[in-house]
Amino acid sequence: MNATRTILLLGGTSEGLALADALGHVPHLRVVSSLAGRVSNPRLPSGEVRIGGFGGADGLTQVLRDEQIDGVIDATHPFATKISANAYEACLRTKVPLLAISRPPWTERVGDIWHDATDVEDAARIAASFSGRILLTIGRQGVEAFVPYDREFVIRAIEAPLPPLPSRYELRLQRGPFTLEDERRLLQDCRIGVVVSKNSGGDKTYMKIVAARELGIPVVMVRRPVLPQVPSVNSIEAAVRWARGL
Ligand SMILES: NC(=O)c1ccc[n+]([C@@H]2O[C@H](COP(=O)([O-])OP(=O)(O)OC[C@H]3O[C@@H](n4cnc5c(N)ncnc54)[C@H](OP(=O)(O)O)[C@@H]3O)[C@@H](O)[C@H]2O)c1
Repeated sequence: MNATRTILLLGGTSEGLALADALGHVPHLRVVSSLAGRVSNPRLPSGEVRIGGFGGADGLTQVLRDEQIDGVIDATHPFATKISANAYEACLRTKVPLLAISRPPWTERVGDIWHDATDVEDAARIAASFSGRILLTIGRQGVEAFVPYDREFVIRAIEAPLPPLPSRYELRLQRGPFTLEDERRLLQDCRIGVVVSKNSGGDKTYMKIVAARELGIPVVMVRRPVLPQVPSVNSIEAAVRWARGL
């Protein structure tokens, strides 16, 4: 008889949702999806879900031991650096195998007008050098970096960012994916002069980049943070194969 294996799936992304669905069909596998609990109405993965932080690398180490986790899959967002570092540390300590799903970054195409930013503070400085309204599509976190700049902002996020916020801004509370038509309309209706984006990769939020290209609008692209080097795959199928092999 095959023993049941337990996988902790760190999610909060479309990959996390898709992988929870796919792993649900694998026999003798218990999958526990984990969400940070940042948004009040998250898209819930299928199957077992836990919500909230673990309490750093120490807390996660304890969970891996207590729950007898056989494998961890890090399907978190490429900009979620703390949880990925904690997963790396906790798996190292407990010798639990760790796999990351990596989402390739977007690359500049002909017609794009990109300005590379090392982080959100750098992005704020660069964006402020352009005229027109600044569209922030960096999520809820990092908006405070733009407060020192007396400019007009349009902030698009799933939930309102916490203060401090710029003095002049319009809030668009929306959840992707967005179509090209949505994004053209947003950029044109809001008279956007420059877009600020993280280099998240993937297709769910890429249409703003295409719309900016079409309209000749510059994009300040926040470079990806450096993450721990762990075995990684870039497809759901490959992650399922890894889980089956545990
Ligand atoms: N950063 C982004 O741009 C972005 C975009 C889209 C989605 N997300 C998703 O939103 C979540 C939070 O992102 P973040 O940038 O705030 O992460 P982060 O800075 O790496 O993590 C901050 C803390 O949140 C908790 N946490 C994060 N992800 C968790 C998860 N999947 N399950 C349980 N606890 C988690 C951990 O708390 P403890 O230390 O207490 O364990 C972690 O130390 C992530 O799961 C990520 O996949 C992030």
